[in-house]
Order: sequence, then C-alpha cells, then structure tokens
Amino acid sequence: MSFDRGVISVSCGLRTWSRAELGGCHCYPRRMAADTVLAIEGLALDARIRRTTAQPVADAHVEVRAGEIVGLVGESGSGKTLTALSALRLLPDNIEIAAGRIEVGGQDVRALDEAGLAALRGSVVGMVFQDPIGSLNPSMTIGRQVAEVVRIHQHVERAAADARAVEALGLVGFPQARERFDAYPHQLSGGLRQRVMIAMAIANEPRLVIADEPTTALDVTVQAQILELLQSLVAELGIGVLLITHDLGVIANAADRVTVMYGGRTVEQCSTLEAFRDMRHPYTEALVASAPTLEGSEELVLRGIPGTPPDPTRPEPGCPFAPRCTRGLSDCVSAPPAFTAIGEGRALACINPVPAGARV
Ligand SMILES: Nc1ncnc2c1ncn2[C@@H]1O[C@H](COP(=O)(O)OP(=O)(O)OP(=O)(O)O)[C@@H](O)[C@H]1O
Ligand code: SF4
Ligand SMILES: [Mg+2]
Repeated sequence: MSFDRGVISVSCGLRTWSRAELGGCHCYPRRMAADTVLAIEGLALDARIRRTTAQPVADAHVEVRAGEIVGLVGESGSGKTLTALSALRLLPDNIEIAAGRIEVGGQDVRALDEAGLAALRGSVVGMVFQDPIGSLNPSMTIGRQVAEVVRIHQHVERAAADARAVEALGLVGFPQARERFDAYPHQLSGGLRQRVMIAMAIANEPRLVIADEPTTALDVTVQAQILELLQSLVAELGIGVLLITHDLGVIANAADRVTVMYGGRTVEQCSTLEAFRDMRHPYTEALVASAPTLEGSEELVLRGIPGTPPDPTRPEPGCPFAPRCTRGLSDCVSAPPAFTAIGEGRALACINPVPAGARV
C-alpha cells in the first residue's frame, strides 16, 4: 500500500487509480490531513409534531478532518442521526434547520440548490446505514447497485461503471468481486452486505463517509472486520469518517476523536484517549462509567445512568443534563452552558466540569 499524505495517491495493494481512471471526478486531487471535510456549528433543528414544535437538536457541533474517524456518541435520542442527516439536508419532511452552519468539503450545505445537493449526496459524501438488507434493493444484483451509484454521479457508460464497481468492491475486501458481481443481497452474509454498502459509499471517491451504526447488526468478529476496513479506507483514501454509535467499544477501537451528544447538544469534543481517560463533561464520565465490565468477577456488571434523557417536546431552560448530574450547581438550571473551546481540538459545554486529569 502506498499513501501520500500531501496530495492524494489512491493506491493500495489491490491497485492504483489514476486521475484519468477516476473519470474526471471533480474533487480529485485534494489536500488531506489538515482539511476539514465536515464542519457543523451551532446546529438547531425545529420539528413540527402535530400542533407543537420541538427542538430535537438544539446546539450540535461536529468537525471531521480528512484522514480521521470521528466517533459521534450519545444515548438513544440524543440527536446523532438527525445531526448527520443535516449534513446532507436529508431530514424528515417535518424537520427544518433553524440555525447553524454546515459545511461539507468547503461547501455551504444550507445554500445549495437541488442540483448542488444531488452532487453532494453520493459523490462528496457517502452514507453507510445500520441495516444493509433494508438499504439494498433485494431485486437488483449487488454489482449493478454499486455500478448505478457510479453511473448516476459520474455520468459514465455502463461498462466503465461496472469496472469501477468491481474496483470498489475489491477495495472493500469483497472476495471475487468480478465473479460475484451478479449475486443478490440475500445470497450474502451480513458482513458482506455491509461491505457492499461501504463499496457504494466510497465508489465515487467521496471526501466524507457518514456511517450510522454500521456494525450494530453484526456479530463481534464481523464488527471488528468492518471497523478495520473503515480504518484502512481512511488511511488509503484519506477520507474522513463520521462514525455514529452508542457503543463505546466501537469508539475505543476505531475512532481518533470523539464528539459526545446529550439532549440534542454537543457536550464534549476531544481525542478518544481523552474521552476515556481525561473526560471533562460529567455526562461523558457517566457514559464511560456505565460501560459493562466484569470487575474481577465472572458476573457482568451493568450500570446505567440514573434518571431519564430530556424530552425534546418539553425543553427546560438550563443544562439538559442537570437533572441527572452529580456536579450540578444552582446556575446550571438557569441557562444551557455555552459550547466553548478549552484547548487544541477540545471543547466542552459545562460550567462545573470534571477536574482535568482526574482519571488519568
Ligand atoms: N421526524 C421526526 N419528528 C420529530 N421528532 C423526531 C423525528 N425524528 C427523530 N425525532 C426525535 O429527535 C430526537 C433525536 O433523534 P435521532 O434519531 O437523531 O437520535 P439518535 O441519537 O440517532 O438515537 P439512536 O441512538 O436511537 O439512533 C429523538 O428524540 C427522536 O425521537
Ligand atoms: S453544566 Fe452543570 S448540570 Fe450541566 S453537566 Fe455541567 S455541572 Fe452538570
Ligand atoms: Mg440514530
């Protein structure tokens, strides 16, 4: 595998893609490493629910750079999926963006027209969902499905699209990609179906891949293989990956940095090591403490976080974690704490954080 961190070199043990072969892909070549491929700042979403309005996302911040995996973590309902869908403006019909900046590959997503959005989806950003069987067309061969994604976005002939599909399947480690081009989704294992989804996501050389719970439906061994695959694609192609999960094991194994959401707000952004060893937000601390352990005995210890998550239809004026927080102060219930930078690549929304180095 060769990998040039300056200007892209799409090269691995399988093959090298030349610029000509990339079919005039508009985003080639591109700079890497320090490039921000996704920047979401101060995102708020309004949802119409019958006659009322709720704010399922109130202040989300996410940053993904080329060549890294950022884990987006938080309890169910914390706003991870809606935040990610905002990056593609693929929100449900009853939800609209009320505030915030969204940039993908340097493009202001909120300002894009339909043509711009179509180009963004699938060619600048690739999506991988939790459920490959529900996301793949059961009546179309897997090779054709990958080739269609190429044809739609690159406007190439069928033969060229088929060739790219075989390459993309090979790149994601799909065995005998050419021979199994005509297989149907139901003929594949869950792990191979997820590889097909990833091939579709990367087939057009996107700058960003958003993977929403990509390993939740898989057994532990296959889960590890898929995470390894994502890591190798990041290294080989220089893409950025936003990896959405509620599984801290997945974060620990695969992510370079972590964004923690709670009650529709980003509450902490830090490196993966900091999230586990030197977290500053009380929710991150509680989340890490609630991960299952064996604690020296044969019995699995499961600890939850006491209390319940906030209801977006009944917003409270203060910090959303206040009712469950062990570090709360009287000021915590008057206004939500601002999301503030506290160091290089670190930011936090809390007025009484866990002391620095408390767990190192
Ligand atoms: N179309 C919708 N209309 C109104 N509220 C919605 C809609 N879709 C989602 N929500 C609510 O928005 C909140 C955030 O949802 P979201 O799916 O982003 O959470 P999540 O963090 O991805 O959760 P999970 O881990 O379960 O996937 C939840 O309270 C959810 O019920
Ligand atoms: S702002 Fe207050 S209530 Fe919220 S997490 Fe920090 S200490 Fe806890
Ligand atoms: Mg979700």
